[in-house]
Amino acid sequence: MSKILVTSALPYINGVPHLGHMAGCLLPSDVYARFQRLMGNEVLYIGGTDEHGTTSEVGALKAGMDVQSYCDMYHERHAKIYQDFELSFDFFGRTSTPENKEATYHIFEQLDKNGYIKEKAVKQVYSIDDKMFLADRYITGTCPYCGYDKARGDQCENCTKVLEPTELIDARSTISGSTNLEVRETKHLFLDLPKLEGKLAEWVKTKEPFWPDVAYTIAQKWLKEGLQERCITRDLKWGFPVNKPGYEDKVFYVWFDAPIGYIGITKQWEALDKQNRRWQDWWMNPKEVRHVEFMGKDNVPYHSITFPATLLGTGEDWTQVDFLKGFSYLTYDGGKFSKSENRGVFAEDAVKEFPADYWRYWIMANSPESSDSSFTWDLFAGAVNKDLNGVLGNFVSRVLKMTSSKLGDKVPEGGEYGDLEKNLINTLQEKVNNYIRFMEQMEFRKALAELRAIWVEGNNYITVAEPWSVIKEDEARAKVILRACINLIRIFALLSAPIMPATSEKILQKFKVSLSEIKNFNVEKEVEFFKGGESFEIGDMPFERIAPEKVEEMKIKYGSSK
Ligand code: 2FM
Ligand code: ZN
Repeated sequence: MSKILVTSALPYINGVPHLGHMAGCLLPSDVYARFQRLMGNEVLYIGGTDEHGTTSEVGALKAGMDVQSYCDMYHERHAKIYQDFELSFDFFGRTSTPENKEATYHIFEQLDKNGYIKEKAVKQVYSIDDKMFLADRYITGTCPYCGYDKARGDQCENCTKVLEPTELIDARSTISGSTNLEVRETKHLFLDLPKLEGKLAEWVKTKEPFWPDVAYTIAQKWLKEGLQERCITRDLKWGFPVNKPGYEDKVFYVWFDAPIGYIGITKQWEALDKQNRRWQDWWMNPKEVRHVEFMGKDNVPYHSITFPATLLGTGEDWTQVDFLKGFSYLTYDGGKFSKSENRGVFAEDAVKEFPADYWRYWIMANSPESSDSSFTWDLFAGAVNKDLNGVLGNFVSRVLKMTSSKLGDKVPEGGEYGDLEKNLINTLQEKVNNYIRFMEQMEFRKALAELRAIWVEGNNYITVAEPWSVIKEDEARAKVILRACINLIRIFALLSAPIMPATSEKILQKFKVSLSEIKNFNVEKEVEFFKGGESFEIGDMPFERIAPEKVEEMKIKYGSSK
């Protein structure tokens, strides 16, 4: 049994996730964690909210709340959404906790002690009335390029030009509106990435055989272009105050303490763990732990360069990332999700409209793995109606209803499997092996295509075996066929569990059996699981069709033009 540490990039606290966030790391990380548990491995699956930074301060300001209460509220909201989506985090924590502060301080102290922290003087805008240096995003003014009068100090939202705050015309403080600003010199702390470059390049090289191309290429590109010193402090109130004399009025930059948050959150988990497991067994145990990180592709440089360099610089034996799975974006009708423009399905609404498993299946089957993929209501309804309802659901319902009406509510007994079943076993074994291999490799689209093909085999089998005709002349043979089909239902439920946990449980409950490991899955053995005589209940259908009227209703409600 291996120890597998699974982390999902920590979503920013402000704002609520949409389907794109679910597709870009949250859902695949859960599918992978569930899969590895089913493979019998010891998994620790960590997630949480990324709470520091300017955006939280600005968000709280806009909401008229103090930042702590704002984050408390949003943290609960995120946690509820992920629960509704059935994400099976061992712990869903926060980056703003005392545990993360302790981890951040420790790591910073080691870096400083080892000479990887540099002090540098920089010029920055100071607000005389607010009595503070302003982060770039806290300065508003007129864009010198397009004349937009609400451009921010880091970027103009209107023309997207990246700006220096000193370029803004009529610059004012976003906090107070004061125009009483001046440029002053201040000191900041920088992570000396150029000094860590050698160690980092050596470490990245050891990862070549294991990282997917996209992650390895991004890391190599950064190394080739040469690393820059990275500022890790900010002039904000919300954040961890820097634990170095002379910097007490500054906080750590959100991207410094966010990835350390994985460790901080594991410490939170340890404090509450009833089995007294230790965070060090996961984070200071590189030889025994395989660490798999899931993230959007924009996060890859931080996780392949900055964070590993941070850990390397401590000189301590941290568990580093072994496999880094980056995703492209899921778009809505080919465009952006936007709450303010009422375009797109946000995760909170999604589960009110349809069961989480419908979303989980569609998102994983259309995972934006190698390029962007686009959500449309027609594609979604098509997959639910054809794949879930038409292939899997129909097989389950047909088999159970037929068995019940002709032979009673027990798995039929007697007789032996023949050539047709032996062929089926061989075909399925090959597909199951592929499915497991693709899931191990985190090739989710391929894995899902294989899973669907496995369900299709059930339908092909029953079409050829024709138990409805056979039963008229040879009841014994019909019993064998239906017993095989019922065993297939259980097999389908087991294999589908990482993707559709609630559906899988619902199906297994019809037979009062529970999930079991799928390691070394042997189809020949598994089709003999029910030997005959076991009771079952037909119960509800696993899925419901989505009617065309519902699709049209959804398009109007969620601003779809397609
Ligand atoms: O891109 C984001 O949503 C970041 N909040 C991800 C942080 S991942 C980790 F470093 F915390
Ligand atoms: Zn502009």
